[in-house]
Amino acid sequence: MDNRAIGVFDSGLGGLTAVKQLMDLLPEEDIIYFGDTGRVPYGTRSKDTIIKYTIQDINFLKTFQIKMIVVACGTASTVALPVLQDRVDLPMVGVLSEAVTSAVRQTKNNKIGVVATPATIKSGAFERAIHAAAPQAQTYGKACPLFVPLVENGHFDTQVAELVAREYLEPLKEADIDTLIMGCTHYPLLNRVVGRIMGPQVTLVNVGEETAKYVKRYLTEQDMRAEPGKKGHYSYFVSDSVENFSHLGSMFLQREIGEMVNLVDIEKYECDSPRPLER
Ligand code: DGL
Repeated sequence: MDNRAIGVFDSGLGGLTAVKQLMDLLPEEDIIYFGDTGRVPYGTRSKDTIIKYTIQDINFLKTFQIKMIVVACGTASTVALPVLQDRVDLPMVGVLSEAVTSAVRQTKNNKIGVVATPATIKSGAFERAIHAAAPQAQTYGKACPLFVPLVENGHFDTQVAELVAREYLEPLKEADIDTLIMGCTHYPLLNRVVGRIMGPQVTLVNVGEETAKYVKRYLTEQDMRAEPGKKGHYSYFVSDSVENFSHLGSMFLQREIGEMVNLVDIEKYECDSPRPLER
């Protein structure tokens, strides 16, 4: 048994898609969430900047009594995690592997689409993992840079979101995919719009949700679950407007989180580089 909290981070609101599922699956667990709202988006930045931000996010979470870190950000998971995984003395899980396993299991025509941030698509990480698990699969990646700002501004199911999504998703419709990995944790907030455009024959894979299921399995196998029957305690930290995050976060989680959201100066956390930074 281990009553320490689970640390979760993302560049903003998106990681709440993993948190929501963690709350449902593991109601006894404490969760400490950091959303780097002052520096969102990560997905249009360079690899070096994403690694630097990720190190700071991890170092911030490590100031608490936590038992593991969930990298609830597709961009940090695909760009920074491979570099940092072995340097962190805590179990750390990203959002890629479980989503890929789920997509490969669900596809029937072996045509899998991936929508994600430009940095994630550029990394090719999802495509590599899909081909490793299912060499016969065809993959179709599409960067959707406007999705994150839409979500951060509360455009979950609006005409603007629909217009942008139609433009991005058209090539994936033409490719006749039957499974679509929502490879950025912000994107499931646009599920209604994306589902409408892609149609019911396309299964949407929510990376945050799949990862939360893995976290439950992992903690159970490692005998690291919190005391049964205990009520989980939640705290949220952001690097910009507490009000904005509280408002949209409460809407999304369907619970009032206003009093639990705190502001943090993330720049003061160490960002020691693991290697000479690439130009
Ligand atoms: N939720 C992050 C991800 O999964 C958002 C990326 C961003 O900040 O651009 O990639």
